[in-house]
Amino acid sequence: MKGTLRYLAGIAGPSGYGSNSTAEQVAQDCSNCSVPNSQLTAIVTGATSGIGAETAKVLAKRGVRVVIPARDVKRAYEVRESIQKENPEADIILLEIDLSSFASVKRFCSEFLSLGLPLNILIYNGTRAYAQSKLANILHAKEMARQLKARNARVTVNAVHPGIVKTGIIRDHKGCITGMQSAASTTCYVALSPQTEGVSGKYFADCNESYCSALANDESEAQNLWRQSRALICRRLHQSSVA
Ligand SMILES: NC(=O)c1ccc[n+]([C@@H]2O[C@H](COP(=O)([O-])OP(=O)(O)OC[C@H]3O[C@@H](n4cnc5c(N)ncnc54)[C@H](OP(=O)(O)O)[C@@H]3O)[C@@H](O)[C@H]2O)c1
Repeated sequence: MKGTLRYLAGIAGPSGYGSNSTAEQVAQDCSNCSVPNSQLTAIVTGATSGIGAETAKVLAKRGVRVVIPARDVKRAYEVRESIQKENPEADIILLEIDLSSFASVKRFCSEFLSLGLPLNILIYNGTRAYAQSKLANILHAKEMARQLKARNARVTVNAVHPGIVKTGIIRDHKGCITGMQSAASTTCYVALSPQTEGVSGKYFADCNESYCSALANDESEAQNLWRQSRALICRRLHQSSVA
């Protein structure tokens, strides 16, 4: 209830941001952070439309080099053109990917590696909004964070809720809607803010750490999902090596 009221009124949470904060505002506040944005490379999947396109635009405007992996390459060119129209300096690299094809994902990875760029930020945004897939996203982020922590890796993994946004996947929603300018704010906050440095395995909404369901916090479910995903990937790898 408190959370809903805070959302509706746009009241800022402990981070200093709230549901009304825009991605531009968040990214601008992070421009003077310890690592200059111009040294950062981000991969943003699903950036040919909706929240991903807004995220790519805001990051590029703040000097981050943005790699857009796209299945619709024509649309990706249009997105790059519109970003560079507003910001001619924007450094945007387009590569092809179909996230539903294992072979295409492998091809993308080797193309990206051949560029010799660092990967500072990976925004895995290009999926569909089904409740089960969102639960899987959170469980996956939490388990990956746990495993990386156990290896003392300096990599953080978090899950983000962008709000309810009218995009390609949600056209007819009649309730509260997050504007497109705010839709990418939580992603940009988690990706760029010094406040989230070292923070891993958490869930964020409206630019603040948030609570998620008991099921999403269930460590054994997360481990189970990890094991099953790993088994599926190994089977696919084996199939493609013998084919
Ligand atoms: N909108 C909301 O209210 C809402 C709420 C919660 C979570 N989300 C999540 O936010 C993310 C972005 O969604 P959106 O609302 O911005 O939707 P959108 O406008 O439909 O964008 C989806 C993006 O994902 C890409 N994509 C889908 N399948 C792909 C594939 N197999 N290979 C490569 N790219 C693929 C699409 O590329 P194409 O141009 O090739 O189709 C598009 O760029 C999704 O993960 C969604 O689940 C959205």
